[in-house]
Amino acid sequence: MALKTALALSLLAFQAHAVQPGAPKPLAAPLRDLEFGQINFLHTTDTHGWHAGHLLEPSFSADWGDYVDFADRLREKLEAEGKDLLIIDTGDRIEGNGLYDASDPKGLFTFDIFREQHMDVLCSGNHELYKQNSSENEYLVTAPAYPGSYLASNLDIHDPDTGEVVPLAPRYKKFITKKQGIRIMAFGFLFNFDRNYNNTIVQRVEKAIQEQWFQDAIRDREIDLFVVIGHSSIRSEEFDMIFRAIRSVQWDAPIQFFGGHFHIRDYRIFDRKSHALASGRFMETIGFQSINGLSTSASRGKSPTFFRRYIDNNLYSLYHHSGHNSSTFHSDRGRNITEAIHQARQALDLDQTFGCTSRDLWMSRAPYPSNNSIFSWLEEKVFPEVVNDPRRHDRARLVISNTGAIRFDIFKGAFTKDSTFIICPFTSGFHYLKDVPYNRAKKLIDLLNRAGEIFENADPALAMSQLAPVDQMGILQDIAVEDSFPSGHHGHQLSLTANNALIPGYTTVDDAGTDGDDTVHAPISFYRVPNCIQSTVGVQNGNDEEAIVDVVFNEFIQPWILLGLKFLGLDYTDDDVDQYMPDDNMTTLIAKWVSQNWAENC
Ligand SMILES: *[C@@H]1O[C@H](CO)[C@@H](O)[C@H](O)[C@H]1NC(C)=O
Ligand SMILES: *[C@@H]1O[C@H](CO)[C@@H](O)[C@H](O)[C@H]1NC(C)=O
Ligand SMILES: *[C@@H]1O[C@H](CO)[C@@H](O)[C@H](O)[C@H]1NC(C)=O
Ligand SMILES: *[C@@H]1O[C@H](CO)[C@@H](O)[C@H](O)[C@H]1NC(C)=O
Ligand SMILES: *[C@@H]1O[C@H](CO)[C@@H](O)[C@H](O)[C@H]1NC(C)=O
Ligand SMILES: *[C@@H]1O[C@H](CO)[C@@H](O)[C@H](O)[C@H]1NC(C)=O
Repeated sequence: MALKTALALSLLAFQAHAVQPGAPKPLAAPLRDLEFGQINFLHTTDTHGWHAGHLLEPSFSADWGDYVDFADRLREKLEAEGKDLLIIDTGDRIEGNGLYDASDPKGLFTFDIFREQHMDVLCSGNHELYKQNSSENEYLVTAPAYPGSYLASNLDIHDPDTGEVVPLAPRYKKFITKKQGIRIMAFGFLFNFDRNYNNTIVQRVEKAIQEQWFQDAIRDREIDLFVVIGHSSIRSEEFDMIFRAIRSVQWDAPIQFFGGHFHIRDYRIFDRKSHALASGRFMETIGFQSINGLSTSASRGKSPTFFRRYIDNNLYSLYHHSGHNSSTFHSDRGRNITEAIHQARQALDLDQTFGCTSRDLWMSRAPYPSNNSIFSWLEEKVFPEVVNDPRRHDRARLVISNTGAIRFDIFKGAFTKDSTFIICPFTSGFHYLKDVPYNRAKKLIDLLNRAGEIFENADPALAMSQLAPVDQMGILQDIAVEDSFPSGHHGHQLSLTANNALIPGYTTVDDAGTDGDDTVHAPISFYRVPNCIQSTVGVQNGNDEEAIVDVVFNEFIQPWILLGLKFLGLDYTDDDVDQYMPDDNMTTLIAKWVSQNWAENC
């Protein structure tokens, strides 16, 4: 609906080359080709509203309209050769970009834009389930847009009309591919997530796989390939359990997993006939998977072979892999979607500029602490200057935030309304405890950063990994934990400057080797970040036994703050906690600081 409205309003001429106006041109770079198979997949995950693509990063500057054209061009090419193409999305489509977050209600434009892409199998992420509205949007808008393809193997919802608990979508899908006649059984899981709003019920995976429908489905002998998609790390216990369940009844059935959640490029080889792909985040990556040598309804296959590639989401790559160029690639349909995204961005005023900065501030590409660390900037500048409730302004305070509250880097240049949502999409505000003895409260930050085990032993729901950025869980999961670690692992986004030299970017190492990225990049270094950061404001008499401070923290980390203080001998409960600056939150406060400090740089 919104798409049509946006188009009806549009009197602008189409751009010749699609992508968003102002999006940087991709740079030519050496590319590794795709190897097509009998069956081929394109996979997105954790797009988080980035359907306009990245307007400051040439490597990821293609938008959802370009992706729709890419899928259509590739499908035409493959189907002409008698091959199949399936499109997969593994959730977390919302929250994290102004295109979704800036509208009222949220997602006013993104649902109509998203569903322009054909999907063969898709599922929900955890982000769709934090709020009643967003999960109802899945149930009432997205799932019906993909009847039979949207799967909810372990997810139920209270129907908003009847109140009855029903599956959010079908549990599984059995289908036969169009060209090859490959018989597929598909599932769509969510990891064992428990912070959803109470209108949805996430059944634990170990329980769901004991249900009769699943036990029957995995025993189906008329299947050539199991496709298990899930919003879950591909190295999770949840995927292990599903793998073992299928393997225990079909010892050599090919299984292809698609996962996400950790925001990384990753590939896992479970066994010779079972592989798993994770395709990054934020529309940076279009994952490509192909399989050859499968049985079909008509013939017996030999041993299957698997191939994966991570495509940088820009037109240079998309033209190359589809065998097209700027005059043959784009369709009216794709251009219309590009135009609808542009219209939505304009309606939401996402380019409104609060200020400009002359340097990049990185989450994990600069050491912490350092001048280029976004966390040092928050600790040293932003929190001391703007996290200050007028009712308590003369009080000494500790301001604590988890690093996971920040979602993205700040690039040199304009800091826009869009940037605020990109950097911090969370709507929750700050809370505080008043008059806490300073000599104990000052020990809290070390506890939060170094004493993970004691929190988890006291309450398994309080795993410290929830505090740091999700990407770090992925980056660290298979590297020895060090204070900083060299590149070569899962690369990140980049600012591009090089002309002849390789452009810095993703240089992924996974179970299949070092050749997964389509674009040959120079590596980038990454540094570990703490779980939490802290600003100490106005503490004068820190050695005074009587000194007291307000402990101010973002709402999300309240359970950890209360438990941490308990370990320090201070018994506070939720009833002692109050709102701090109730009209603001991290997003609005960062915007305020930027307006006050960076406006004249533009
Ligand atoms: C929830 O969605 C409805 C319908 O789109 C909208 O009217 C309402 O404002 C939304 N509520 C919130 C809190 O966003
Ligand atoms: C969900 O929580 C709300 C309070 O936030 C409560 O009013 C409602 O009854 C709960 N619903 C269910 C199904 O438990
Ligand atoms: C694009 O490809 C077509 C067909 O191969 C060719 O005729 C045309 O000249 C190409 N256009 C550009 C801009 O390269
Ligand atoms: C694209 O949008 C135009 C103008 O709204 C419309 O007339 C046309 O049918 C659309 N084309 C496609 C392929 O969606
Ligand atoms: C950090 O920035 C400050 C002021 O901008 C400067 O004085 C200092 O030398 C910088 N430190 C480093 C390590 O670059
Ligand atoms: C908090 O931030 C969101 C944007 O993420 C904004 O829409 C909302 O109005 C803010 N809430 C308050 C209370 O300022």
